[in-house]
Amino acid sequence: MPTPDSASPPAPQAETLRDALAGLLDGLPPRQAAGAVERLIASYRGRTPTDAPILRDRADVVAYAAYRMPATFAAVRSALTECAAAVPGWAPGSHVDVGGGTGAAVWAAGAVWPGARAVTVLDWAEPALALGREIAAADPGLRDVRWQRARIGTALTLEDADLVTVSYVLNELTAPDRAAVVDAAASAGQAVVIVEPGTPDGYARMIEARDRLVAAGFHIAAPCPHSAACPIVPGTDWCHFSARVSRSSLHRQVKGGSLAYEDEKFSYVAATRFPPAPATARVVRRPQIRKGQVLLELCETEPGLRRTTVTKRHGPLYKAARDADWGDAWPPPEEPGA
Ligand SMILES: C[S@@+](CC[C@H](N)C(=O)[O-])C[C@H]1O[C@@H](n2cnc3c(N)ncnc32)[C@H](O)[C@@H]1O
Repeated sequence: MPTPDSASPPAPQAETLRDALAGLLDGLPPRQAAGAVERLIASYRGRTPTDAPILRDRADVVAYAAYRMPATFAAVRSALTECAAAVPGWAPGSHVDVGGGTGAAVWAAGAVWPGARAVTVLDWAEPALALGREIAAADPGLRDVRWQRARIGTALTLEDADLVTVSYVLNELTAPDRAAVVDAAASAGQAVVIVEPGTPDGYARMIEARDRLVAAGFHIAAPCPHSAACPIVPGTDWCHFSARVSRSSLHRQVKGGSLAYEDEKFSYVAATRFPPAPATARVVRRPQIRKGQVLLELCETEPGLRRTTVTKRHGPLYKAARDADWGDAWPPPEEPGA
């Protein structure tokens, strides 16, 4: 999966977002910014869904945007990149981002599918929407985004859209509200992409959503090579991936240490109402490179997990295996015209 520090240089979209987020902290004493992040982390820690937004005021949302948005943007961009690879030639003409907060998924969709589209961001936290609008002013392509207040619940209905995203939201909802948002997304969307933290609980919520989407007639486009049940035995493992995120000085201040980046772990599912062309297999762990061989853990079309060893004897496939990354399709898709 391309990451800012590895395969390709950052897309202009990512740079524009990074600059806009850095600008939020201009003039804010570093200790005050770090204090706001620490308060936000504390209010997320160990919480169960509540009746009121966690992001209550501008200090909360600035902390969220500066501290978390680069990571949620990177995770959603990775998920959308893999979704796009499974639906060649398709691009969403409209996008609804549910629980969109400050708009990370809107920026990610812009990075994956450049060009104009009708976009609506829904959230119950007005300060998040207001800041999202302010950040989006940095990108002329995002100036027409509609930022609308809406509460996710059993009464939620969504306008029809080519793409519906729900990123890092299920975690904040009760079980009935999780079911309601997935059902609403399935009723409204041609493609639905759900991203959750890459933890056992995040994976469990993602699988619950995946099952609902399949039951609603959707096909899985990514990461799974099939729409059958996930082959992971519940409780033994969890499917997740990793996106590399550059650390800002605010990150370094809050987390300590001097690492220039961190790896955001996430679980995701991308599903389409129309038949996609999913990967033949997917690399589900970081490949292990040994002398003359690469060990790949794959999830395969015939639902199952398999470890395979690619050696020099496999010729060009060996080079491809050395370049393969956790989360990539396997074998790599052929370059157009190759
Ligand atoms: C962790 S943030 C994720 C924001 C954004 N999607 C992202 O990926 O960066 C969760 C968002 O869900 C919103 N949210 C949580 N419960 C909600 C509800 N019941 N109705 C509407 N929005 C809700 C929060 O206000 C917050 O903006």
